[in-house]
Amino acid sequence: MSKKLRDLSVSERLDTLKKKIGLSEEELDTLRNGILGEDLADNMIENVVGAIKIPIGIAENFKINGRDYIVPMAIEESSVVAGANFAAKLCRDTGGFKAEAEESIMIGQIYLKNCVPDAMPKVLASKRIIRELANPRDSTLVACGGGLKDVEVRNVGKYVCIHLLIDVKDAMGANFVNTTAEKVAPYIEEITGGKVVLRVLSNLSVYRKAKSKAVWKAKTLEESVGGSFTGKEVAEGIMCLWDIASLDPFRRATHNKGIMNGIDALMIATGNDWRAIESGVHTYSSIINSPVTTYKINSNGDLEGRIEIPLAVGIVGGATKINPVAQVNLKLLGVSNAKELACVAASVGLANNFAALRVLSTEGIQRGHMKLHAKNIAHMAGATGDKIEKIARVMIQENKITVSRAKELMNGSGNFYKI
Ligand code: MEV
Repeated sequence: MSKKLRDLSVSERLDTLKKKIGLSEEELDTLRNGILGEDLADNMIENVVGAIKIPIGIAENFKINGRDYIVPMAIEESSVVAGANFAAKLCRDTGGFKAEAEESIMIGQIYLKNCVPDAMPKVLASKRIIRELANPRDSTLVACGGGLKDVEVRNVGKYVCIHLLIDVKDAMGANFVNTTAEKVAPYIEEITGGKVVLRVLSNLSVYRKAKSKAVWKAKTLEESVGGSFTGKEVAEGIMCLWDIASLDPFRRATHNKGIMNGIDALMIATGNDWRAIESGVHTYSSIINSPVTTYKINSNGDLEGRIEIPLAVGIVGGATKINPVAQVNLKLLGVSNAKELACVAASVGLANNFAALRVLSTEGIQRGHMKLHAKNIAHMAGATGDKIEKIARVMIQENKITVSRAKELMNGSGNFYKI
């Protein structure tokens, strides 16, 4: 893209995407208007009365494993798309993000109580039969190499817990895992002599992690703050904030929230179950007793960031398939499998974390945030077109960002018309 998307109007942006990706008029319309037909919505959940729209923004600077991506992000919070995009731009000169994802192995849990003493070895000795029960020959997933791969047993208090390790390939996989757990549960009861009390997936998908890393040059860091800090100071500031997040769970929650800002936005845009991802990442962070990103300053004085998280994401099935907007967003993103989507998601999470730490350790988040917020306020006061930008600018200068001030400016009071 020659001109940056932020310098274009919404229509021009759509036109650029149309030319670049080859979107049809219908797809453009779906994206622009957030179309989710009443019938579709009514079949997705109960007692449907409508649908809520969330803005979709594009991060256009991501280079991951040598490939450029157009990343759609659905989010209502100002500065998340800008933050991800800026972080991605700042590491392009070192090659962008290097990411990889594990196979799509999900965990299905079966909990039993009152088992015979040798229940655990009995389950392990019956793996072959469990696998045959779990993997029906007529299943498309099994035909594609997916299905139950292994069985683990754990002792949890007075319970025996069985983990079914299931490769769900390009799906998020909740349905297949839950169906499988329910299907094999009676046989497990038979061999353990116990009573099944729970059959459901675990959202802590530790065998389905993705990781990503990137390097931000000290020189780039310095330029990114207009020289008001040296690159070394910016890198050390980020290291310091990371250190605090490692020491203090109160800060870690916010540190990780900044990571999830970007990941959730991508998950929502692609119709993925972001609550599942959220719960997996936060539980993983509490298990490793550390934030899910790490930073170090390398021998060149550059900043190296890394992320590693469980990411149960899919590109087939569920809302991904049903929601037409998710389909268009997946087309924009152009990933060919779930592992590739996980690589993008991990990279976006790292980018948003870097963006937050960079700004927090230098000028603070409020300046950029208020700039975008001021535009929202101007819009809420009834401003349209280029008046939004003008009114926002005055309110920022005056440090008075309120709807009532925006209305005054709209009505010609204050210095708005003198600009
Ligand atoms: C706001 O949505 C996210 C941040 O609070 C993250 C952070 O503090 O690292 C800016």
